[in-house]
Amino acid sequence: MTRKIIIDTDPGQDDAVAILLALASPELEVLGITAVAGNVPLPLTRKNARIVCELGGRPDTRVFAGCDAPLERPLVTAEYVHGKTGLNGPDLPDPTMALQDRHAVDFIIDTLRTEAPDTVTLCALGPLTNIATAFQRAPDIVDRVSQIVLMGGAYFEVGNVTPTAEFNIYVDPQAADIVFRSGCDLVIMPLDVTHRALVTRPRNEAFRALGTRVGVAVAEMTDFFERFDKEKYGSEGAPLHDPCVIAYLLAPELLSGRRVNVVVETQSELTLGMTVADWWGVTDRSPNALFIGDLDADGFFALLTERLARL
Ligand code: RIB
Ligand code: CA
Repeated sequence: MTRKIIIDTDPGQDDAVAILLALASPELEVLGITAVAGNVPLPLTRKNARIVCELGGRPDTRVFAGCDAPLERPLVTAEYVHGKTGLNGPDLPDPTMALQDRHAVDFIIDTLRTEAPDTVTLCALGPLTNIATAFQRAPDIVDRVSQIVLMGGAYFEVGNVTPTAEFNIYVDPQAADIVFRSGCDLVIMPLDVTHRALVTRPRNEAFRALGTRVGVAVAEMTDFFERFDKEKYGSEGAPLHDPCVIAYLLAPELLSGRRVNVVVETQSELTLGMTVADWWGVTDRSPNALFIGDLDADGFFALLTERLARL
């Protein structure tokens, strides 16, 4: 039985790897890919999503353009990490596949109303603007969502864009607050776990050794994308944040965490976008998320490399 998913994304090299992993995995049926402004502005994320689908040999995938700015705050982008195009690294051709006409938010609403309840999983790889907007416009769909697995937030690992906030949550804290309070079954992949998914040199070489367009392109993406984290953290390689979301769907045994309450700071200028995880249960706030903290990195890269080889 395949699992129906919608991937909401702001490609971004790590988003691209997550999309390729999903397209390579027969366990998953990608109902659609919805682009949101984040790493780079919407005109680029809606273009990059199609570039990646064609790279993966799946021009039949439906790609929708969504929100071009956060609910309340001005858009903050991350060209300093992902490059001017958002997919710097490999030299990939412009897409020929068309963008879908429907707005991404309408697609999310329509799909959740049409598919049977509890059968569609939302995989959120960027700021949560599209999903929050859909929930605001159509509250009836919230209970129909099977699960939301999202990359975002940080607790023990602290922030990557401010001292306390991770990028996806920081860009649209109001949207994150709506999603975190929605009551949906939430699985969060914070920096606490994604910083363990590092593309070390041998792992990068394993991508390149596939010898395929996909393998070489992924090696070139992560070669480019690693600069920021190596300089800032002294990491051994690029952290594959977003692929952790898809890996959880394919092999949840590779990841572990704790069900806790997680709330987003939306008011303070000092800690805006911080995900406040009640890790030790010191408040009366009830747990609302599985907050993932650990990863079998070798198992993750074995799965990822084997799947990429199929494209
Ligand atoms: O903080 C990491 C997240 O921000 C990842 O999803 C990356 O693609 C960027 O969107
Ligand atoms: Ca992303």
